[in-house]
Amino acid sequence: MSALKVAIAGLGTVGAGTLKILHENAAEIALRCGRNITVTAVASRDRKKDRGVPLDGVKWFEDANAMAAEADADVIVELIGGSEGIARKTVETAIANGRHVVTANKALLAHHGVALATAAEKAGLSLNFEAAVAGGIPIIKALREGLAANKIRRVTGILNGTCNYILTTMRASGRSFADVLKEAQDLGYAEADPSFDIDGTDAAHKLAILASVAFGTPVDIKAVHVEGIRNVSSLDLQYAEEFGYVIKLLGVAERLDQDGGMLTQSVYPCLITPDMPLANVEGVFNAVVAEGDFVGRSVYEGRGAGAGPTASAVVADLMDIATGRKVPTFGIPAASLKAIPNVPVAAHVGEYYVRLLVVDRPGVFADIAVAFRDEAVSMESVLQRGRNAANVNVVIITHKTQEAALLRALKRLQANAALVEPPHMMRIEK
Ligand SMILES: NC(=O)c1ccc[n+]([C@@H]2O[C@H](COP(=O)([O-])OP(=O)(O)OC[C@H]3O[C@@H](n4cnc5c(N)ncnc54)[C@H](OP(=O)(O)O)[C@@H]3O)[C@@H](O)[C@H]2O)c1
Repeated sequence: MSALKVAIAGLGTVGAGTLKILHENAAEIALRCGRNITVTAVASRDRKKDRGVPLDGVKWFEDANAMAAEADADVIVELIGGSEGIARKTVETAIANGRHVVTANKALLAHHGVALATAAEKAGLSLNFEAAVAGGIPIIKALREGLAANKIRRVTGILNGTCNYILTTMRASGRSFADVLKEAQDLGYAEADPSFDIDGTDAAHKLAILASVAFGTPVDIKAVHVEGIRNVSSLDLQYAEEFGYVIKLLGVAERLDQDGGMLTQSVYPCLITPDMPLANVEGVFNAVVAEGDFVGRSVYEGRGAGAGPTASAVVADLMDIATGRKVPTFGIPAASLKAIPNVPVAAHVGEYYVRLLVVDRPGVFADIAVAFRDEAVSMESVLQRGRNAANVNVVIITHKTQEAALLRALKRLQANAALVEPPHMMRIEK
């Protein structure tokens, strides 16, 4: 069988990693596919940059979009990044020109996934994106194929390695958020502008894609409630530990079938118990827990980023195309994806962690108790500890309550002059 011809747009971390695997493991890949995978063309901005991989005989394009139209290739691999601009154009041009697409671009899929999948499916082409969610973990294949016989109830994940590294290191060392973020930047785990990661946007992109594959619903990034980790302090990590919890940034997508098929999609830092599988996922690792009606709970853990793990997923997608294995982009035909109403986060019911920094004077705790009582929020445990002579932290774990009621209680307290800073509130996931 003739070789599968591939053109790669973007030769950064993932692009160079993809070339490296295709080169170093060419024999194993050919054996498993029954044919070779050959890179015929590449596109990147800087032709002089050493990519650390041989590019002899490979046609170089300055313009990725031109490559998508003109290259001698069956597949265009988009590894530039970004939801708009050249990345989007390259993928659209590739599909319009009858070429399969492999991409690691979660931002692109979160914003334009359904339109791109529709176009690819109409043209009988594959649009594969395993690397876009949780890097080296084959979670898309697991949900789309391995668990295909199940109704998935819930998908939960640690989907951003940078945030997981920061929270893990803060907990282990007691150091501040700013200090550990700086270290993560120095180590190359966080970008110079870290907002995409630490504000939860990157995890939200991945969660929206996971929800689409798990629940057969169109990717809807606007439906994801997003909170990042900027406001998680080392104090919160310590208090959480005293109450028997660890703090993780989780993506949670859940179907609430008893209500006729409502969906929740959220990314937020939350408290989980140490016996939960995600509690022990440390450092830059990612993990996903999927719960299906027949399979029960299954857990996937691995490296969510980096050249090797991400390129491993890109090449697996190419191998599916080489062997003719084909599944609709989001598991079911794009035209059959069905919108599911989203439950607003204010309707969330659960236990909560609240930390209030208040002036240390008589009567303040009574004010807190009254605000909670008036909104019918009951307290399970309370801890009060001084930070300095003037102010103390009051930390409360609530019983199960509706989030809207707790927010009303906290709003009342914000009007109280004894409150030194806005309340800190996190959900407890059980
Ligand atoms: N890095 C990871 O661990 C990881 C993990 C999962 C998913 N991803 C996704 O993979 C994609 C690539 O990420 P990356 O980390 O490899 O990015 P990167 O290291 O910044 O590489 C981006 C590449 O795109 C090229 N490029 C930028 N603008 C271009 C243009 N106008 N025309 C042609 N080439 C252009 C750059 O060219 P020059 O090199 O010539 O400047 C560079 O080679 C993104 O969608 C990202 O979200 C990355």
